[in-house]
Amino acid sequence: MHDIEHTNFQLKSIPVLHFNIQSILDSHGFGNKNDYQNIYINLYNSLKEAIIDNTLQEGLKLPPTRVLANDIKISRSTVIKAYELLVLDNYVKCINGSGYYVSSSKNTKIHFNLKSVNSFKHYPTISKKGNAFQKNIHLINNIQSSSEIAFKPGLPPLDIFPTNIWRNLSNSYWGGIKSSELSYSKSIGLQCLRENISNYLKIYRNITCNASQIIITTGSLHSLYLIGNALIDKGDKVLTENMTYPHAYRLFKSLQAKVSQIDLNNTELAFGNFKNNLAKFIYTIPSNQNFLGNKLSMPKRLELLQWASINGALIIEDDYEQEFSNWNKPIAAIYSLDRQDRVIYLGTFNKLLHPSIRLGYMIVPNYLQNTILNIIEQSSRFVSPELQKVMSMFIEKDYLNKHIRNIVAIAQERKELFMEHFISNFGDEIVLDSSSTGLNILGKFKNSNVSDQDVSAYLKQKGIITNPLSKYYISKPLENGLVMGYSCVNNKLIKQSISKMKNEYSNFLKLN
Ligand SMILES: Cc1ncc(COP(=O)(O)O)c(C=O)c1O
Repeated sequence: MHDIEHTNFQLKSIPVLHFNIQSILDSHGFGNKNDYQNIYINLYNSLKEAIIDNTLQEGLKLPPTRVLANDIKISRSTVIKAYELLVLDNYVKCINGSGYYVSSSKNTKIHFNLKSVNSFKHYPTISKKGNAFQKNIHLINNIQSSSEIAFKPGLPPLDIFPTNIWRNLSNSYWGGIKSSELSYSKSIGLQCLRENISNYLKIYRNITCNASQIIITTGSLHSLYLIGNALIDKGDKVLTENMTYPHAYRLFKSLQAKVSQIDLNNTELAFGNFKNNLAKFIYTIPSNQNFLGNKLSMPKRLELLQWASINGALIIEDDYEQEFSNWNKPIAAIYSLDRQDRVIYLGTFNKLLHPSIRLGYMIVPNYLQNTILNIIEQSSRFVSPELQKVMSMFIEKDYLNKHIRNIVAIAQERKELFMEHFISNFGDEIVLDSSSTGLNILGKFKNSNVSDQDVSAYLKQKGIITNPLSKYYISKPLENGLVMGYSCVNNKLIKQSISKMKNEYSNFLKLN
């Protein structure tokens, strides 16, 4: 056997291929009378062809020589000869004690076929909508996807998520599972979860709604995608705040809406210029307007409802992170003030528990519910019932309540530590905005010539993550600064990272 170097070679956990090897060999010329004298050459050629046309893909394990010999009724030594020839020609790698694997196509003697290159132009064109999604991905701030955690904005304290409790609930789900529960499920979501969410909303948001009004989704962005598809035709007008959720803005643009911005705090909504706006809806984040915990005032909330009523429009209320920003001085959700069924309420567990969970919900006006359910039915169908059931138990057994109290307390403790160390390191060079109440905190530069985007890019190279405030704005930025998340960073790392950030910021100033 030849030994191989194991570098860059990915073994796939695909089972040995002997169940259909006979038909693969047949369709690649095995058994041709002409080659029959040199049967190992015939076997070599058919396997080679199957590798070249990707029927046998990189990393796949070939059947053991004894099994293949038995299956195709030839001697084992013939199979070994064919395999060894493939190894010599780099089509196959042999791993001692494990077997023969299809090799990386980069190492093989495959010559790229010009005919197939020419045929690329014959692929179907990508739709206008597909292209719009492609183009708009670069619009305004992209959430940083680095592995560093300090000081990535918008993350809850991930390190205290109760994984043991979640595992036990998950075990109990599988322990009591009935085979009928493994079948298709309703698009609207499990009744038990919707009931528990409706209780949760009553307690935490003073929202009265029936379980039948709640639709389960994989999160707020999924909810927005469904709403957008239900409401937006090309050219339809929609409104967002100037500083908004980048994903929502990009989504509305990709669905070919005309997106305009509005300053909800200053505009005379119902009776000013805004009055005759023919927008289908306004998307707002009233509990956390600028990602720093600013809240839309009660009079403005009422004015917004009036505007929607006068203009026959809807309000999409994204109440994300309200558990953090609304903790001390809760303000009524717009949904709870609505008497005309004009508010779509979005909630998510992706911020409260962890973004990888992918679970959220929405309450939609009655007239829209069937359309949304039909879109789900014809796309994602339903959210995993296992996830829904475990979440439902998590709420019902009071773990969610305890977890919220825990994360709010930890986030507060970390915020105090963050502020203390930041102020002692930075003095008045970068001043923290003490009014920030959400999961992020804003730092403003003393020197107004400093560009937040340049500082953020420089710090990122040095392993410190921040978001430049100016990139949250859709139209001209009104302010400049660094948005930082502290709540997912433990105490030790907070101290270390602030010292490092201070050094790197000084280096940045020297260089610029
Ligand atoms: C304004 C806003 N809403 C909602 C979300 C959460 O979306 P999802 O539930 O899809 O993770 C985010 C995440 O960053 C957000 O910034």
